[in-house]
Amino acid sequence: MSVALVTGSAGLIGSEAVRHFASLGLDVVGIDNDMRKRFFGNEASTAWNVVRLTSDLGDSYTHHDVDIRDRDAVAAIFKRYGKDIAVVIHTAAQPSHDWAVRDPFTDFDVNAGGTLNLLQNVREHCIDAPFIHCSTNKVYGDRPNSLPYQELETRWEIEPGHPYEGGIKEDMSIDACLHSVFGASKVAADVMVQEYGRYFDMKTACFRGGTLTGPAHSATELHGFLAYVMRCNMERRTYRMFGYKGKQVRDAIHSHDVTSAFEAFFRNPRSAAVYNLGGGRHSNTSMLEAFALAQSITGNEMVTEYHEANRVGDHIWWIGSNERFQLDYPDWKQVYDVPMICQEIYEANVGKWTPEA
Ligand SMILES: NC(=O)c1ccc[n+]([C@@H]2O[C@H](COP(=O)([O-])OP(=O)(O)OC[C@H]3O[C@@H](n4cnc5c(N)ncnc54)[C@H](O)[C@@H]3O)[C@@H](O)[C@H]2O)c1
Repeated sequence: MSVALVTGSAGLIGSEAVRHFASLGLDVVGIDNDMRKRFFGNEASTAWNVVRLTSDLGDSYTHHDVDIRDRDAVAAIFKRYGKDIAVVIHTAAQPSHDWAVRDPFTDFDVNAGGTLNLLQNVREHCIDAPFIHCSTNKVYGDRPNSLPYQELETRWEIEPGHPYEGGIKEDMSIDACLHSVFGASKVAADVMVQEYGRYFDMKTACFRGGTLTGPAHSATELHGFLAYVMRCNMERRTYRMFGYKGKQVRDAIHSHDVTSAFEAFFRNPRSAAVYNLGGGRHSNTSMLEAFALAQSITGNEMVTEYHEANRVGDHIWWIGSNERFQLDYPDWKQVYDVPMICQEIYEANVGKWTPEA
């Protein structure tokens, strides 16, 4: 038996990883306690996805409604599968800046403490299993905001000729800048994952994601940028922009392209690897550009509201470079760009996201 253990298995990336690794013939064991509902309310619940995974995948998926902070319950799962665990994909997290400020203890306990709990269990029960960690570009804090930008009609853009013109690389310092409480808990997890790679010679990777997106995102205001743009447009809800004239730029990568990168690492793992992973130059958008795209897909006018103050630590421009990952894994190919992603989000949710009567 070969087991893929996926935390946050009902979430966007977790559920895609469940399907992907099941399709490779692995038995998938998922851990998710629907904490996203506790963070963001009913509309963000991922319980619907557990039902779908269980009915679509049958015996090849086993779900555990367990909190990754729960030492005994997590250890029991690792003990049960032991060395059959061939890979651990850790996607469970408190993912929002704004939420973290409300409850820093829970944010840190889930993001940093939960990650440590998993690392230690891998060390004790299945030390050869690659540990794939969903980190974030927020580990760079607000440092990207110190890059030189030009204001264009619909977006901010880095000055031509800058070394990061092709995308921000992993050599950007993560030190001595403003991270937000969320960014700091993710830094702690990121550094700990690297440490278990170096200190215990485990096969670990931190994937520092840009905007990760896809049709399975339980979109909500505090988390899930592109899916939330589409949801607002489809439900005729007001989308609230915060600062930077709505011209802030994000790169966006589809969950399919994320999990194919995970597979590449699983097949040829390294120790203490750190990769930026995002849409890069191939797939990025500003808020204003995303609104125009949503309108063109649905035919609905986008309803927006502008607030002058930006979110603390929000990036003016983030386009990451996938170059380091691509050098290590030259066969990995990115399939999706922003228009394809938005079209797919629309088609997958057209019956679900309807305007209130
Ligand atoms: N979506 C993005 O734009 C983005 C960008 C960069 C990094 N990331 C990171 O990627 C990872 C996955 O993001 P996502 O968008 O799939 O998030 P998501 O919220 O869709 O999925 C996370 C899942 O983890 C579960 N969970 C949360 N806390 C838990 C706990 N204590 N115990 C068990 N389960 C718990 C939630 O219920 C949810 O189903 C996270 O680590 C996030 O920080 C996401």
